[in-house]
Amino acid sequence: MLLPYLCFSLSIEKQWSEDFEFSSEGKWAIENRNNPFKFNNAELRDTILKGKFHALKYPVNVTPLLFPYSVFEKAFDEAPVNSPARKLIYKILKLGSGYKTKEEFFEYSGHIHYPKNENQNYSKIPFPSEKKRGLPMGGTLIHRYQAEGLTFGCASCHSADLFGKKVLGLSARFPKGNDLFLDAKKMKKNYRRSIGKYILGMSDGELKMMADTLETLDWVRAKKPVVLGLDTSLSQVGASLHYRQKDEYASKIKREVAGPHILETKAADSKPAVWWNLKYKTRWLSDGSLVSGNPVYTNFLWNEIGRGTDLKELETWIDQNQSTIKELTTSVFSTKAPNYLDFFDEKELNLHKAMRGEVQYKKYCERCHGQYIKNWSVDKDLEFKKLVKTKEVRYHKKTPVVNVGTDPGRFEGMKYFSDDLNRLAIQKNKSIKVLPQVGYVPPPLVGIWARWPYFHNNSAPSLCVVLTQSSKRPKTYWAVKANDPDKDFDKECNGYPLPAKISKKWKKNKKYYYDTAKAGMRNTGHDKKIFVDKSGKEYMTKSQKLDLIEFLKTL
Ligand code: HEC
Ligand code: HEC
Repeated sequence: MLLPYLCFSLSIEKQWSEDFEFSSEGKWAIENRNNPFKFNNAELRDTILKGKFHALKYPVNVTPLLFPYSVFEKAFDEAPVNSPARKLIYKILKLGSGYKTKEEFFEYSGHIHYPKNENQNYSKIPFPSEKKRGLPMGGTLIHRYQAEGLTFGCASCHSADLFGKKVLGLSARFPKGNDLFLDAKKMKKNYRRSIGKYILGMSDGELKMMADTLETLDWVRAKKPVVLGLDTSLSQVGASLHYRQKDEYASKIKREVAGPHILETKAADSKPAVWWNLKYKTRWLSDGSLVSGNPVYTNFLWNEIGRGTDLKELETWIDQNQSTIKELTTSVFSTKAPNYLDFFDEKELNLHKAMRGEVQYKKYCERCHGQYIKNWSVDKDLEFKKLVKTKEVRYHKKTPVVNVGTDPGRFEGMKYFSDDLNRLAIQKNKSIKVLPQVGYVPPPLVGIWARWPYFHNNSAPSLCVVLTQSSKRPKTYWAVKANDPDKDFDKECNGYPLPAKISKKWKKNKKYYYDTAKAGMRNTGHDKKIFVDKSGKEYMTKSQKLDLIEFLKTL
């Protein structure tokens, strides 16, 4: 066993799951993880900035699914609303979801816009040229065949608008990646080359781009999430691989299959994860199934399998773009969580309550979610804003996976395609391994206040609900956009407001309705032996729970 391990450690790929360095006191040296390639300070700043560009503008220029952007502009910007030309374009492209402008389309597709001013630019977001073209964060133009093709990148699912501030690395509240693939498949049924050429006025390059896209769509299997707010990446990747060859490049030669892939029907949905937790962990994904290798390779690999890419081309792209990978990796690993007091007034946070909550936290939560050393326990003389900050996070040396009884759909999903992933040359060459698990990672709780709704499947609308025993949790709730902190957010419970407080008008749109009775959406677990005993007796009073929530807001 020793020999292969030695070989691995000598290879250029770092052992991402084992290279944590410890300070003399044997504690985490998180600062090394913020900067995994050990750039010096000036390089680091520059690298993080470049990495942000890659997060906003998808860098994989071999990605095959592109939509000619000029047609898109024509459909939305040029033809007058309700003109016959626009109606025709809509019909052909099956843009049936009712959006009339580019804005509406991007909103429909779950995107958020670039910050308009300094105040909105919470994450110091740089502006690629796409911004000028009216594209939202994540919207990307790729040049091919002397034409521009539209695609989407990391920020499409990993950025959010938090009360008017744009936060890169926070999960998109209403991602629509999978729906867009389904829309494209619908479009395929209506489109003909002659339509492209004579009606949509595509150039030769655009016609070629469109032909590639349509051919590639045959290799894409998409599934709608059970509810808006979740993503079905497992299903898309697992099912797409199912129809490709079982070789190490998952060659795109049709394979006889006995039937559909199980993940085409079974729910394994999850929310996009936040980026600022990466540095604390030694295994990634909500179930901790990504047990070795730089997780960013997996993000490219999954995104590209889901887009029907030729994996030899992807491998070449990866090998030729190592600096891009390093920049993006450094950028995501150094992401910082939003701080409560950057969004709310100091009087919204009660220090004494939070300090009492810390006692509850240490008793009931710390063993799984890690230690948070607060400034108030080190230096009492600091000003309030600093006092409530965390001085140090101490998370597990090896990231644990625990089954606390939450919905098993997502972790079970991994076993249906882990072999297909582990077989791939890209995984092997980059020492990436996935291993199905039973349970989920108890995530670090940094920035937890900003991460509602809770659990991997969004089944708990607020921290109060997380701390309610499952038999008493609400069976349904309404999700709303985080626009107005007074209307769209329950400050006491930290999460979505109670349904009664949400306007009737909003509730007309059923897509924001979360029903825990649906498959994969269960809100069970994370209660017994955590904050209630086996017989259902609570360990904390109601006010102790509110203290605990106050503490959590400071993380
Ligand atoms: C279509 C939406 C989507 C896109 C696009 C996307 N992601 Fe994700 N990402 C997710 C989802 C969903 C998860 C959580 C999956 C799970 O574990 O259940 C995730 C998880 C992750 C994780 C693991 C986090 C952790 O704590 O373990 C990282 C890192 C990540 N994404 C980075 C990226 C990067 C980098 C890109 C661009 C190359 C990207 N993602 C593009 C949806 C997306
Ligand atoms: C036995 C281990 C364990 C203990 C103890 C524990 N948790 Fe958890 N916690 C988990 C696991 C595992 C998850 C992920 C469950 C999932 O996503 O399905 C989780 C998820 C959460 C989440 C949701 C995180 C997110 O990003 O959506 C919150 C909030 C949370 N726990 C708070 C607490 C609090 C507060 C306590 C103390 C009262 C506590 N936990 C005690 C294991 C634990």
